[in-house]
Amino acid sequence: MLERMRASCSLAAQCLVMIGPHIKAGITTDDIDKLVHQWIVAKDAYPSPLNYRPGGATRPYPKSVCTSVNEVVCHGIPGKRVLKTGDIVNVDVTTYFQGYHGDTSATFYVGEPAETTRRLVETCRLALEAGIAQVKHDGRIFDIGAAIQEFAEARGFSVVRDYVGHGVGREFHMSPQIPHYKPEAGSNLKNMRMRAGMVFTIEPMINIGTYECEILEDDWTVVTADRSLSAQFEHTLLVTRSGCEVLTSRPGVLVNSEDKTWNELGKLSTSAAFSAREQAAQAG
Ligand code: MF3
Ligand code: CO
Ligand code: CO
Repeated sequence: MLERMRASCSLAAQCLVMIGPHIKAGITTDDIDKLVHQWIVAKDAYPSPLNYRPGGATRPYPKSVCTSVNEVVCHGIPGKRVLKTGDIVNVDVTTYFQGYHGDTSATFYVGEPAETTRRLVETCRLALEAGIAQVKHDGRIFDIGAAIQEFAEARGFSVVRDYVGHGVGREFHMSPQIPHYKPEAGSNLKNMRMRAGMVFTIEPMINIGTYECEILEDDWTVVTADRSLSAQFEHTLLVTRSGCEVLTSRPGVLVNSEDKTWNELGKLSTSAAFSAREQAAQAG
């Protein structure tokens, strides 16, 4: 059972790696959809988003992947939008393989990013790492969001509240919910603890401006209320006694994304590298 979950997550991760080199000015988000769809189907898997209709949704999701450009926070529907130099695009891949869903996403640069853009994207990528560093058996779910929020806000950005991480496995979205911020006092989340064997995603959406979001007419596309840039990274994790296994960890560095690091934050983004950096920073 766990082996199948690992296999599905590994496929999703490989698909993201495959996409990196294709991200360039002039392609459309439909081109990304086509590449992802064909790649997943060729692996005898199914793209989970296609025709996905969660309870309460007015219409099924029409494409095989989410492509969220610039001010789009999440659930961007691939279409005729042409990517141009300076844009960012989050590609969110979910595979259904041997009965299990694997869910992972990353934000890519189209050409060379502006400095603020790079700072946003790198902050988001490392905010995810800060969240992952909190994952272990008996740890509090609350601490994941707290770490992410503190990291992102310290760098001047905001954390989206309307969309959260989620349990994943036999179903695409299940309990528990994993907020990327500190929930209100009194939330029962304060006391919820992780258990070895739990599988869930962490997928912070970080904005330059307000954390508030709006949904467009298509009933899917989520944009920032002030149309400022938004970045997102996502991993699926298995909670273990000592920490966690990143089920969607990648076989290589993502081209047009994590290969363009922001020097102030450093090159590596492993949890170990992250804690070492924070300790060095605290030591002054
Ligand atoms: N992959 C998204 C997530 O991380 C969910 C996309 S739902 C879709 O939870 F229908 F828009 F694909
Ligand atoms: Co997800
Ligand atoms: Co996803």
